[in-house]
Amino acid sequence: MDLTTLLVAALFSACLQAVSGLLVPANKFTDLALPSYDYIIVGGGVSGLVVANRLTENRNVTVLILEAGDLDSAPDLITVPGLVGHGFIPSQNWNITTAPQESLDNRTRDYGQGHVVGGGSILNGLVMTRGAKYDYDAWLTLGNPGWSWHGMLRYFKKSENFTACVTSEDSQNLHIRPHMKVHGNKGLLQVGYPRFFYSSSRNFLEGISELGIPVLPDINAGISAGASVAPATINERNQSRADSRRAYLDSVLSRPNLHMATRQTVTRVLFGNETKDDNPILPTEALKRTYGVEVSEIGVSSENIRLTRQFTTYADAPRKRVACNKEVILAAGAVISPALLQVSGIGPASILKELGVPVQVDLPGVGQNLQDHAMVGAFYNYTQPGLFTANDLTGSILEEVEGQYFANRTGPLTHPLISTLAFTSLRHLATDWKSLLSNISNSQPESHLPRGPGQHPTVLKGYIHQQRVLTSLLSHSTVGALEVMADSIGTLTAAVQHPLSRGFVRALSADLLANGAVSQNILLDPRYCSHPFDCDVLVRGLKLNNQLVKTKAMQQLVPRPSSPWDDSTSQNDTALLEAIRSKLQTEFHPAGSTSMLPLELGGVVSPRLAVYGTSNLRVVDAGIIPLLPAAHIQAAVYAIAEKAADIIKQDSTMGGLDPNDGGITPPPNPFVNGPPGLGPGIVEGPGHPH
Ligand SMILES: Cc1cc2nc3c(=O)[nH]c(=O)nc-3n(C[C@H](O)[C@H](O)[C@H](O)COP(=O)(O)OP(=O)(O)OC[C@H]3O[C@@H](n4cnc5c(N)ncnc54)[C@H](O)[C@@H]3O)c2cc1C
Ligand SMILES: *[C@@H]1O[C@H](CO)[C@@H](O)[C@H](O)[C@H]1NC(C)=O
Ligand SMILES: *[C@@H]1O[C@H](CO)[C@@H](O)[C@H](O)[C@H]1NC(C)=O
Ligand SMILES: *[C@@H]1O[C@H](CO)[C@@H](O)[C@H](O)[C@H]1NC(C)=O
Ligand SMILES: *[C@@H]1O[C@H](CO)[C@@H](O)[C@H](O)[C@H]1NC(C)=O
Ligand SMILES: *[C@@H]1O[C@H](CO)[C@@H](O)[C@H](O)[C@H]1NC(C)=O
Ligand SMILES: *[C@@H]1O[C@H](CO)[C@@H](O)[C@H](O)[C@H]1NC(C)=O
Ligand SMILES: *[C@@H]1O[C@H](CO)[C@@H](O)[C@H](O)[C@H]1NC(C)=O
Ligand SMILES: *[C@@H]1O[C@H](CO)[C@@H](O)[C@H](O)[C@H]1NC(C)=O
Ligand SMILES: *[C@@H]1O[C@H](CO)[C@@H](O)[C@H](O)[C@H]1NC(C)=O
Ligand SMILES: *[C@@H]1O[C@H](CO)[C@@H](O)[C@H](O)[C@H]1NC(C)=O
Repeated sequence: MDLTTLLVAALFSACLQAVSGLLVPANKFTDLALPSYDYIIVGGGVSGLVVANRLTENRNVTVLILEAGDLDSAPDLITVPGLVGHGFIPSQNWNITTAPQESLDNRTRDYGQGHVVGGGSILNGLVMTRGAKYDYDAWLTLGNPGWSWHGMLRYFKKSENFTACVTSEDSQNLHIRPHMKVHGNKGLLQVGYPRFFYSSSRNFLEGISELGIPVLPDINAGISAGASVAPATINERNQSRADSRRAYLDSVLSRPNLHMATRQTVTRVLFGNETKDDNPILPTEALKRTYGVEVSEIGVSSENIRLTRQFTTYADAPRKRVACNKEVILAAGAVISPALLQVSGIGPASILKELGVPVQVDLPGVGQNLQDHAMVGAFYNYTQPGLFTANDLTGSILEEVEGQYFANRTGPLTHPLISTLAFTSLRHLATDWKSLLSNISNSQPESHLPRGPGQHPTVLKGYIHQQRVLTSLLSHSTVGALEVMADSIGTLTAAVQHPLSRGFVRALSADLLANGAVSQNILLDPRYCSHPFDCDVLVRGLKLNNQLVKTKAMQQLVPRPSSPWDDSTSQNDTALLEAIRSKLQTEFHPAGSTSMLPLELGGVVSPRLAVYGTSNLRVVDAGIIPLLPAAHIQAAVYAIAEKAADIIKQDSTMGGLDPNDGGITPPPNPFVNGPPGLGPGIVEGPGHPH
């Protein structure tokens, strides 16, 4: 029996006796689940588990998490930081592929997304970065009261238990001097540093310094343009992966009011109408009220299925319905949540019509405004004699470091794939940065958006506002335009941090499980470099790499790049652009597809994360991010979910969602008198958090 089966069996028998929290095995779901739950959370990934944990702190509240994937069995491949990226467990991936990338080479890209309890935090690279103060102040400027750096800082701190256990030698050599005031030490997610660093980290930091780019003592303190050894989601004590399941779920599964069912793929959110009679505080326009969700139990035959209370026979027999008393909370990630909304009747009317789905709310922004960080790995082959790199972890050396790791939790296996990185501002990247930025302002915004619903006036208006905010952000010396990530062997991966390209997600069938797999029924098109600015930033990033490897500090590593990264092509923009177009891939940071923005700016959720036009449906995952920060985004997703839980608790004690928030009547538009002022937060300055 593997660990998963054991765990399920153990929890299952415990709950039969005690009727305490349930981890419901797939084939028992219908028998064990309550007839209805206060909150149903769709997706047990990063955001879903945070919200479930916090809501069930109140023992009067019942919560059901429905997760399509299984529990992981904690193999070394997942838990050991040094093995990140070395293996891939096929059943833990949604197998989504992008549309052919027309502004690149017309090829599709694999787009790994977690299909497992813990979601992306089981697959991710452990890098823990927040981005700049101004990255979050931009959310406020876009029309989201409460969502500035100041508003997020409280939740960055709440989510983490930050430990800075590094030797004084490492602290000195690698400039690791965290600003403890901006970190938390009571949170559930363990954040810390590995106990081993490759010597090339120091060369990288010193090389960056030679280029005039600052080395930061703490990259998460509000100024993020600079180089740093970033902290990681690592348990300090046992030097293993810290993920959302270990942090937020395992210790609270014993709560009797929390049920979680795995291998349950939610296929629809179910709607009826709420009238003024049901709820006297509603405005005259009726809001759509969800009664629950429809769910398909993978691998369970239809005769085991009994429909739950208050729902009669449903045409697709093997589907069940689960009812909610209060709310449905979508946490299925930025790729699947918008598709779920569309098949449930919430989205651009034209798409719903093509799907043959009755319109609940014509909401043009659903699936639009998709943003991602695009990256290109360039290889400079460090050939310094005797240099120790992750490539040396084979044969007897691997045996030795494994011994070290498992006996003492020390050595190279504590080090994740990437720890050393730099965010560079546009100023550091391009002497002609002003011209680059004024070209953004001069271009035709509609020519950069996808056809069809992507051209809806509200979506276009939202994009124009974002372009203005981005132009301001990119002019700052403390905000990243590009990220460079260094591994130990010679790869310097360049990634665009404030992309101007916008993609989309749309459902291709009213049934997300048609043909057996969700991946067959979702069209994901990130439209990489559909705005040429993004590929231009990458060209400049690769030229920066070439300068970097020529610094004194980096020359010690004896880099030996080959074409197209060597001198023969690295000054040839055409050649670099060709290389970028064939090698570009995702940094796995999809966001924006269910944006938190005012309705007139193409928004999908309000600042209280309520879906416009509904009375009890929210989205809490990475899709609500209106504008990507220049950072790996898990820190933001954990913080958003912590804040979401507080919002949901507040609204619950106030007797439900504030109709002015979720209602068709949008919240006041801060831009009603013209273009967005760049906001008092967005001014040139040192950017110290308070
Ligand atoms: C390979 C990879 C590497 C990454 N590296 C980093 C990194 O180093 N640092 C960093 O900060 N970030 C990284 N990220 C990004 C980070 O992990 C994500 O931003 C984060 O997981 C997003 O959280 P979420 O809650 O929005 O979605 P997820 O964590 O993806 O959770 C969504 C959950 O919903 C479930 N689900 C989806 N649809 C349904 C449905 N219909 N029914 C039931 N369940 C459903 C999924 O199975 C999943 O468990 C990485 C991501 C990946 C994939
Ligand atoms: C839980 O419900 C009980 C009984 O209705 C009530 O007395 C108590 O205050 C509630 N607790 C919370 C935290 O809401
Ligand atoms: C993804 O593909 C793998 C290998 O083909 C398969 O085992 C897995 O079940 C697929 N994932 C999903 C969610 O269908
Ligand atoms: C990609 O396909 C489009 C449309 O078919 C075509 O116009 C374009 O030239 C192709 N691009 C490349 C790089 O092949
Ligand atoms: C925080 O981490 C430290 C170091 O591992 C540990 O001693 C402490 O118990 C942790 N605190 C919490 C709240 O997890
Ligand atoms: C490491 O410690 C954490 C926190 O105590 C625990 O949840 C996790 O299971 C441990 N991981 C391993 C691989 O031992
Ligand atoms: C909900 O309201 C719409 C229009 O107001 C109506 O067409 C529809 O039939 C109603 N649905 C239900 C389930 O009452
Ligand atoms: C790196 O350079 C060395 C020495 O020139 C060479 O032997 C090796 O093949 C190169 N490695 C790669 C992956 O290109
Ligand atoms: C573990 O640490 C101890 C004490 O430092 C040391 O003696 C021992 O050799 C280490 N074990 C391994 C396998 O490295
Ligand atoms: C800006 O646009 C003009 C006109 O298209 C072009 O000549 C110039 O090179 C662009 N500037 C940059 C920095 O790309
Ligand atoms: C630059 O690269 C392109 C595409 O590879 C090539 O056609 C061109 O000759 C190169 N230019 C120079 C000056 O080497």
